[in-house]
Amino acid sequence: MPPVNTLFASRTEALRPSAIREILKATGRPDMISFAGGLPAPELFPVDAVSAAVERMLGEQGQAALQYDVSEGHLPLREWVADHVRETVGLAADPDDILITHGSQQALDLIAKALLNPGDTILVENPSYLGALQVFRAYEANIEGVEMDAAGLVPAALGDRLGRPGPRPKFLYLIPNFQNPTGATLAPGRRAEIARIAAAHGVAVIEDDPYGQLRYAGPFPPCLAASADAGPHDTSTISPVYLGTASKLLAPGLRVAWAIVRHPELRRRLIALKQAADLHTSGFTQRVVHALVRDRHWLGAHVARLRAAYASRLAAMDAALAAHLPPGTEWTKPQGGMFVWAHLPPSLSARDLLQRCAEAGVLFVPGDSFWVGAAPHNTLRLNFSHASEERIATGLALVGRCCHSLVKTAGVSRPDR
Ligand SMILES: Cc1ncc(COP(=O)(O)O)c(C=O)c1O
Repeated sequence: MPPVNTLFASRTEALRPSAIREILKATGRPDMISFAGGLPAPELFPVDAVSAAVERMLGEQGQAALQYDVSEGHLPLREWVADHVRETVGLAADPDDILITHGSQQALDLIAKALLNPGDTILVENPSYLGALQVFRAYEANIEGVEMDAAGLVPAALGDRLGRPGPRPKFLYLIPNFQNPTGATLAPGRRAEIARIAAAHGVAVIEDDPYGQLRYAGPFPPCLAASADAGPHDTSTISPVYLGTASKLLAPGLRVAWAIVRHPELRRRLIALKQAADLHTSGFTQRVVHALVRDRHWLGAHVARLRAAYASRLAAMDAALAAHLPPGTEWTKPQGGMFVWAHLPPSLSARDLLQRCAEAGVLFVPGDSFWVGAAPHNTLRLNFSHASEERIATGLALVGRCCHSLVKTAGVSRPDR
């Protein structure tokens, strides 16, 4: 008999469970304070509103909700998405441009499946969202990181990379607002420039925007897809694909998201792949989401509640970092989203720190998980949306104490990369 390993597809060889999922398993401990997952605050989930929406929706269209549905997604929800993106990020989209997916994560998977052959090159901000890196690795992409700074991806770095000879990247993946993991926002002035550089080199852009509506300060810039030179009718290049989701607006358990795909051929292929993957996103949950979001007054009040609560938690985290982390620690000051990104003093390793912190009852994600290529050993991602302000203060006091104990045993801490 051939060894069982020969039964596995070679593209699964390099797959590893996400470091974050592994860490999250430990969060089951009730006393553990977690800054690790990208989790919304459960006490802010609109449980009563979902319950009322389910009842109303089943009364009005129960039979249709329980039947098989179209692969593109429930039309009234796609109509709402078209209005929503026009009003919030300035993107003109037709409901027919929209594909409803089982979370943005599925959209990333379908896009990678539609565009990537093994060994194809793609570009990502460095560091980038681990869930996207996992998808791209599963399709055996050659992933290259492009430099970013506090104002997001650096256009000159993208231009330099695309100006060099060598295989042309298939696409650029980026998270323009309150990026996961750094919290950085792409400067409004850079958006059109990045879209122009990518279009000039025939590179598609995948713009992933799960956090854009969670803005606590400053103006809402238009999305990169809206500022793109290549409009919906120019089929010679793939116009930027824009991804939004109900996960951070309502609740991730609903698994409802939208991909705005204005290039007709890419859309056709994505719909065929969606059919092959799962026929369609649950018609039941799509209708529940629509029943909630079509009430603009309710949605506005709900998002305002989220923004107020998360802004306070972000302020609490900023203050606690200043109070407890050792001198030389630096961290980002995001204007929204769910993450702060910190650099420890170079003598400290984030992985060593995590080990001590986990024993002490507090978790975060070491930043090296998010990098493509060589990763600094001293970065960490801290989620501020899940824990209460009180637990943020308590948890960061523990992190501070663990840092100081590591400093004392500096010989033990070894920069591992
Ligand atoms: C940048 C980014 N993209 C996509 C996702 C996945 O979102 P969804 O729940 O819509 O699948 C996440 C989740 O944390 C994320 O941070």
